Amino acid sequence: MAVSVREVAAAASVSVGTVSNVLNRPEKVAPETVERVLSVIQDLGYVRNDAARQLRAGRSRTIGLIVLDAGNPFFAEVARGAEDRAAEAGMSVLLGNSDESPQREAGYLDLFREQRVNGVLLTPAGESVAGLERMQDAGVPVVLVDREAPGTSLRSVSVDDVEGGHLAVQHLLSRGRTRIAYVCGPRSIRQVADRLTGAQRAIAEVPGAQLEVIELPALTVLQGRAAGEQLVARPRAERPDAVFAANDLLAVGLLQALQLMGDLRVPDDIALIGYDDIDFAAATVVPLSSIRQPAHLIGYTAVDLLLRHLDAAADVDEPHVRFQPELVIRASTSP
Ligand code: RIB
Repeated sequence: MAVSVREVAAAASVSVGTVSNVLNRPEKVAPETVERVLSVIQDLGYVRNDAARQLRAGRSRTIGLIVLDAGNPFFAEVARGAEDRAAEAGMSVLLGNSDESPQREAGYLDLFREQRVNGVLLTPAGESVAGLERMQDAGVPVVLVDREAPGTSLRSVSVDDVEGGHLAVQHLLSRGRTRIAYVCGPRSIRQVADRLTGAQRAIAEVPGAQLEVIELPALTVLQGRAAGEQLVARPRAERPDAVFAANDLLAVGLLQALQLMGDLRVPDDIALIGYDDIDFAAATVVPLSSIRQPAHLIGYTAVDLLLRHLDAAADVDEPHVRFQPELVIRASTSP
């Protein structure tokens, strides 16, 4: 029978909250208390990740999900997949939007901890996942969505974004384009950085091909439009002949600017490819080529991983699932 956090608290003559603080925020606890609790944890053989016990201990029937941008249809589809799998288990999903802010993400993590959710799924807004590991150590399982963190104890469902970036730029090069711009959001977002890595690998395979990086504050339609206006304002000889947008929202904004604002035609003057293959990528004035991510399946699988972790009796507990991206070719890159 697994040792519970209550047994540790009783044996150390402290509250359950103090045990949780010793595990999560030891700086808030008197050193001699930390020493006593850790000694009891060792003596009793308490296993920190006793998430199945948490479920039996009457946690709420909820799961927390934090997305980078609730306005991005990609994450709406991820949330739909997560809800579908949660509903199969009689659970509900609480949705938080970090808006690519680590501070807002931290606020939602605190809220979900207070709400005693059974676990948290999130696409991290920043590079570090150390706080997520401490949260998991305190008994709240964490599954990374659309991102992995090798060498950590965190489960993950992701897409090979390096391969996705490679596919996108390899496709542009196959169309004879050689002056390519990567229009992206902050490279602190792992997906953005990985897509760039893949793009650089594709460029290195073609002598003479060039890659310019245009980094924007966020991956939104408005930012894409602003980038498009900059490209239109350049002298013709300084313009790229193709653009790889780090996601479809940027691509939609770029397309608006290129088509409506300037004398540039897509794909004749500038070929354009996005990423995610959100529903309206196919419906834009020039249907967008894109790199498809299985958004609904990502969300569904992330909850399934969490539920397997919570159910100690689950037969298979594969901690990492990685999907392959798919090139979708439409008019915006066709001859
Ligand atoms: O939020 C930025 C991007 O990261 C999304 O468009 C999606 O591609 C995710 O992977």
